[in-house]
Amino acid sequence: MDFLTIFAIYVAVVLTCMFLVCKYSGQPQSPFNTLLNYVSKMVARLTPQWLQKLSHWTLHRLFHQRNNLFIYVHILLEGAVYAEFTFEVFGFCRELDTSLTSLSVPYVLLVIKTFIFYLCIRTDPGTVTKKRVPSQLHIYPYDRRLFHPGVLCPTCQLVKPARSKHCRVCNRCVQRFDHHCIWVNNCIGAQNTRYFLLYLFSLCAMAGDIALLTGDMLLHAVLRSGLLRASYIDEYGQQQAAGPLFVVQHLFLTFPRIVFMLGFLIFLFFLLAGYALFHAYLALVNQTSNEWYKSRGYVCQHCHPTAAADPPVPDHSKRNYYSRGPLRNLREIFFPLKCVQKKGN
Ligand SMILES: *[C@@H]1O[C@H](CO)[C@@H](O)[C@H](O)[C@H]1NC(C)=O
Ligand SMILES: [Zn+2]
Ligand SMILES: [Zn+2]
Repeated sequence: MDFLTIFAIYVAVVLTCMFLVCKYSGQPQSPFNTLLNYVSKMVARLTPQWLQKLSHWTLHRLFHQRNNLFIYVHILLEGAVYAEFTFEVFGFCRELDTSLTSLSVPYVLLVIKTFIFYLCIRTDPGTVTKKRVPSQLHIYPYDRRLFHPGVLCPTCQLVKPARSKHCRVCNRCVQRFDHHCIWVNNCIGAQNTRYFLLYLFSLCAMAGDIALLTGDMLLHAVLRSGLLRASYIDEYGQQQAAGPLFVVQHLFLTFPRIVFMLGFLIFLFFLLAGYALFHAYLALVNQTSNEWYKSRGYVCQHCHPTAAADPPVPDHSKRNYYSRGPLRNLREIFFPLKCVQKKGN
């Protein structure tokens, strides 16, 4: 196979993966999971018992127990990208007269992002504890739809406040539970949704900025080399103009690591941007991912009055019926509601 075929396959695979991830993420009945189930059944039949136990144990340790592995992976990837940027791209950009100011932006973003990342990891997301639960119960009213009053968490033995959920990884109930994020090894809840949002956007900005600088550098390298006007003699002795594919091939061969990094960053940028926008949307309509997933399969009793609903139920036909306007919703994310217990109670 020649280079261009491999390159086309590479692009097709990346695009297909992106499409599938975007289309099916979070749907239990997706073809993804069907395929995964099928593959795991096939693999299970072919592997010995002890290996199955070992892999089961490993997966359990990795995804169902708290561990810092993904934080290390995150730091490692970041280190690799920044090393590549500092030791290869930076020098080229200086030669091309890119200003120091714009070259320092990625480092500033790195500092900001690391700080937010730290806050996101270290902040208590809003653990429901015996001491705090009396006041936590008053923060949100029960909607009698997804959250019903008086439900006990079987593990924590505490009454669940509205919008809370038990995190199986951390083994605790968390107020305004969004999801458990393995990349920060923490739940995302009432107190750190704001850091999580900022973290996503700063990561996006980082990936986008480095990708732009790198892309700009490669563009200049191509323009300088005069490749666009170049031509070559093909196998029949004819003179051919070097097309864009020729340029791509040239770049791949001249700067393999840089081009690989650029591909990774562009992929990451679109993935993160989609995810960040989804979370921004949720924040703007006053929903958590947990509620969003739950309300997808929800059959509203108000709209299907077969089962009599005695308390007055708000109109559920709209997905975002909680929303009190984007600004107030955002304020609640950045200044989470706290119910201060009156002294002497
Ligand atoms: C967000 O929704 C909850 C109900 O789940 C509600 O109690 C709260 O007042 C809403 N906040 C805003 C700012 O609309
Ligand atoms: Zn619990
Ligand atoms: Zn958790």
